[in-house]
Amino acid sequence: MADLSIAVFVSGGGSNLQAVIDSVKDGKIHGQVNAVISNNSAAFALRRAEMEHIAAYHISNKLFPVPADFLSQINSVLVRHSINLIVLAGYMKLLPLEIVRRFRGRIINIHPALLPKYGGHGMYGINVHKAVIDAGEAQSGATVHFVDEVYDNGAIIIQRAVPVFPDDTPEILAARVLEVEHRILPLAVGMFL
Ligand code: GRF
Repeated sequence: MADLSIAVFVSGGGSNLQAVIDSVKDGKIHGQVNAVISNNSAAFALRRAEMEHIAAYHISNKLFPVPADFLSQINSVLVRHSINLIVLAGYMKLLPLEIVRRFRGRIINIHPALLPKYGGHGMYGINVHKAVIDAGEAQSGATVHFVDEVYDNGAIIIQRAVPVFPDDTPEILAARVLEVEHRILPLAVGMFL
């Protein structure tokens, strides 16, 4: 069975990326992360990749405003590393439809809420936790799901809940949810062969 060759798309700090890398090191994932791609050149996630000797790429539609060029840049990385699983970990952009279709069933995303609630456009980062608290929810959590053409819409793979306490701030809730993200994302990746 060919090993998993994983590409992780990131935009920010990369703590979810790090959780997947650490899980590879613990032998819990049937393959390895071979490429990290970020739309944000300042993303600490790119530094994490470099420190782990993983190929790190800054590919954005600012650098490549022509969609066909952007697509070919991404495709060349996926081909170069024989990628067969794509993980979106705090990636703030939509992947090109051509890639979503070609990799259908092999692209997963981590979202910091209990989808289908608090998903979709504009629901990212701290906005999610603000909305959950403003709605007076008793619980929140994280979801790993398959990626399809609609934001935060694909079939759910793993979901885990956390309590929301009355004195929670969005930042406190975000930290509680992030801990769960770091557990369920590696678990979901570990389910692939
Ligand atoms: C996490 O909250 C994740 O759920 C959301 O963006 C944040 C990424 O954090 N998609 P990191 O870059 O993995 O640290």
